[in-house]
Amino acid sequence: MGSDARMATRPRAEAPRRAVVVGGSSGIGAAIADRLEADGHAVVRMQRTHVENSRCVPFDLRWDLDLIRRAFDLAEIMLSGIDWLVLAGGTAAYQHAAHGQKDIGRWQEVAEETIQTNLLGPVYCVEAAAPIMRREPDEEPSRILAIGSTIPRQPPADLAFYAASKSGAETAMRALARRWVKRGVWISTLATGWVRTPMTKDIVEEKAAKILRAVALHRMAEVEEVAEAACLALRMPYCVGDTLTISGGL
Ligand SMILES: NC(=O)c1ccc[n+]([C@@H]2O[C@H](COP(=O)([O-])OP(=O)(O)OC[C@H]3O[C@@H](n4cnc5c(N)ncnc54)[C@H](OP(=O)(O)O)[C@@H]3O)[C@@H](O)[C@H]2O)c1
Repeated sequence: MGSDARMATRPRAEAPRRAVVVGGSSGIGAAIADRLEADGHAVVRMQRTHVENSRCVPFDLRWDLDLIRRAFDLAEIMLSGIDWLVLAGGTAAYQHAAHGQKDIGRWQEVAEETIQTNLLGPVYCVEAAAPIMRREPDEEPSRILAIGSTIPRQPPADLAFYAASKSGAETAMRALARRWVKRGVWISTLATGWVRTPMTKDIVEEKAAKILRAVALHRMAEVEEVAEAACLALRMPYCVGDTLTISGGL
């Protein structure tokens, strides 16, 4: 087994990591940040809302690259480095609120907000954070994990921008992984099916029966289950540019 493989398969499981969670104020990101803290890791959350009793950096995924770089510089100072970055921020910005092109201005706003938040934002985060997270060949790789979605497999009519943004982000992560692996940063995606969070609350109330019929487990995932999978994904050997999926059999 080569030295790269040994590094990947034998992480220092007990060593506390310095982790940044983008979107750590709600849903999946909050559950991942809580879980990492409970496991003894140092966590900084980055999103628009401050979370009580947590270390937070005010952050907006729609910022330009310069502002995003400054936010990661601040997170690096707060943690004295970054080992793990979880990109869990995102918006679904359902078009059904603006569907039928009754309000073309709002429709365009939704499109731009979704692409900026879910596609450009995560890519800029990698651009800003990866240089901070560089590792030498004899060091354990740092990890970036993006939370993706199974929606692009069968995109519903009212989630075109969402599906396109998540699909684009997944593709971008695969490309960025090839670039950054040479500098010791391993990037991957954890794509999930339906998860019970504030993001899915409205859609679930409307379409619960239809959605759950298509899931083999006939229920949505709980955020704690996704957090568990994310913790595994952050330690997954031989996982670079790959998309791991949990969907309950969707
Ligand atoms: N729920 C699902 O079924 C599901 C399935 C597949 C994938 N996902 C993905 O999982 C991720 C989290 O979704 P969730 O279901 O946990 O949703 P959620 O509960 O609505 O949480 C969304 C998070 O993203 C942050 N966020 C939203 N817009 C932001 C912005 N412009 N800048 C910075 N942070 C922003 C929010 O914080 P602030 O509002 O404080 O900024 C919040 O922390 C998303 O990427 C979503 O696409 C969700």
